[in-house]
Amino acid sequence: MPSPLFSSVILCISLWILLLSPAQSLTCTSQKLPNNKQYANCSDLPTLDSYLHYTYNASNSSLSIAFLSTPASSDGWVAWAINPTATGMAGSQALIAFKSSGSLAVKTYNISSYSSIEQSNLSFDVWDLKAESGSNGTWVIYGSLKVPDKVEQLNQVWQIGARVSDGHPNKHEFAPTNLDAKETLSLVETPQSLTPASAPAPTPAPSPLSAPEKAGQSILRTNNLGLFLFLVSALAL
Ligand SMILES: *[C@@H]1O[C@H](CO)[C@@H](O)[C@H](O)[C@H]1NC(C)=O
Ligand SMILES: *[C@@H]1O[C@H](CO)[C@@H](O)[C@H](O)[C@H]1NC(C)=O
Repeated sequence: MPSPLFSSVILCISLWILLLSPAQSLTCTSQKLPNNKQYANCSDLPTLDSYLHYTYNASNSSLSIAFLSTPASSDGWVAWAINPTATGMAGSQALIAFKSSGSLAVKTYNISSYSSIEQSNLSFDVWDLKAESGSNGTWVIYGSLKVPDKVEQLNQVWQIGARVSDGHPNKHEFAPTNLDAKETLSLVETPQSLTPASAPAPTPAPSPLSAPEKAGQSILRTNNLGLFLFLVSALAL
């Protein structure tokens, strides 16, 4: 018969292991977009709880995206941008969603510098722009854009803000999570990219890695459960 202290320590450890495993599952792969729209790839962006779902069509150099984030307040804004010339905010060509006469709208902004945020056309074609609210206060920006021929990566920037005044999105916070909201978006197929696109894409078939990876995760869960049951039965002895 194990000592009570030993038993409780083991019980705590096993519960901890059991509880830990589902915590990492909130990623774009398990996200459902409001209208169930499907994209070939998705990316968990590193800051601001933001996610990009996208399909790149190399045969006509178009990129169609759904950007999901949560505005800093319900009267705020969310933005996703491509910066054709640099990696930060200055120069970015932005899609900004905010409430306009009560409903969500997407507008295009050429952010030529930190001090000039003007609504204008972008330096590339965009179409099918739309914004929609999703679950738990999230907003989704949908759009398609023309990208340069045979481009392999793009500089993307995203942001959230708390206020819009007179139809203008106001400045965002300057916390590290806001300032770090930029990343390269790779348009070449990477091993961890997911999903069979529902339509035939010009990109290769789903990566052989994704299935084993998923199988591996469930084996891990089963193992945790096995460990837990083993420990519980050990305690009962
Ligand atoms: C490229 O193809 C997609 C999917 O067929 C279409 O939605 C899009 O409008 C096309 N893009 C251009 C720039 O013609
Ligand atoms: C990509 O664009 C081409 C040309 O418009 C189109 O024929 C094809 O269906 C598109 N592929 C997808 C996956 O939409």
